[in-house]
Amino acid sequence: MYCTRKLTEQVWWVGGSDRRLALFENLFPITRGVSYNSYLILDEQTAVVDTVDSSISRQFLENVLHTLDGRPLDYLVINHMEPDHCASIETLLLRFPTLKLVGNAKTFAFMGQFYDFPLDGRTVTVKEGDTLSLGGHTLQFHMTPMVHWPEVMMTYESSEKLLFSADAFGSFGATGGNLFNDELNFDRDWLDDARRYYGNIVGKYGLQVQAALKKLSGLDIAMICPLHGPIWRSNLDYLLNKYDKWSRYEPEERAVAVLYASMYGDTENAVNLLAAGLADSGVKNIAMHDISSTHVSTLISEVFRCSHLVLAAPTYNNGVYPAMATFLHDMKALGLQNRTVALVENGSWAPVSGKLMREMLGELKGFQVLEPVVSLKSALKDSSLEPLFQLRDRILDSLNG
Ligand code: FEO
Repeated sequence: MYCTRKLTEQVWWVGGSDRRLALFENLFPITRGVSYNSYLILDEQTAVVDTVDSSISRQFLENVLHTLDGRPLDYLVINHMEPDHCASIETLLLRFPTLKLVGNAKTFAFMGQFYDFPLDGRTVTVKEGDTLSLGGHTLQFHMTPMVHWPEVMMTYESSEKLLFSADAFGSFGATGGNLFNDELNFDRDWLDDARRYYGNIVGKYGLQVQAALKKLSGLDIAMICPLHGPIWRSNLDYLLNKYDKWSRYEPEERAVAVLYASMYGDTENAVNLLAAGLADSGVKNIAMHDISSTHVSTLISEVFRCSHLVLAAPTYNNGVYPAMATFLHDMKALGLQNRTVALVENGSWAPVSGKLMREMLGELKGFQVLEPVVSLKSALKDSSLEPLFQLRDRILDSLNG
């Protein structure tokens, strides 16, 4: 049975959600599931904008057929050729013999890499600024390469000022009935997942997001329709400002995240003491994560949020504790920038994790390491307190500076 929602008189949401998938891209935990948005425009001609993942293809087809109510589908616009949005392309081609696929040259190159269905005479190749009239609605295509794949484009519908934004402005999390940002508590229920989605999926491409934002600034947008998560029809500046900040690698908050690894509780003891000292000095909302039990995608999200990081890790096999090494590697892979970091190392006979963490952070643009790097040898002793308190004071100076 169909399950759809109306965006405007002639535009419908025909997507759905998967609450069973454990790992998005077989990589990112999604305890709240994920939605795959698809949109259908009913005009003199009809158009679907992007399809969905195979997990909800049955629901999608029922939604499309119900909404079309017997009419043919004339166009399928493909803003993004990643398989989580392309699983039903062939089904639509088979269902609607006169359907034309609308994409750019790279879209169709990728389509041939993923699929073998014939496309002869069934494609409309568009480039920057091209338009497609459906009657009262006109689609205009804007190339936004590397947000976050090379073929990505966004489609702007000018009569109702709708932006179909591909993955940009999306979020992890299944939608449940409430689909629009003004129907839900975004700050409370969605912001963390939206930031985690941005940071891990799109975060590497800050420059390209900035270019896209510049391009979009010339459009009069009433509604942002992403491929995942809520649809935005009010307070768009809130979301655009988040994207602007994230893509410039500016922290969202002047805040401290303590990200630590600890084998027997001693390094954890040190960061607890450090955090208590910060709290005694008025620092609020300190975030603390044991990185051995926190998915690295959450740690990356915290870096996007916080201005200051405390990284604490034991030495392991004459290197950095593996979970911390993975996190540092991920930060480098995503090209994160511009954070202030305090370091705590531990090592019972040859502590080197502080030196190695500093070296790895040195490969990141705009990362500043505070002095001193606190070096522990096993458990905390009275002699450990002075350097810990010095580091606390340096963090406070930096936070308040
Ligand atoms: Fe939701 Fe990049 O695919």
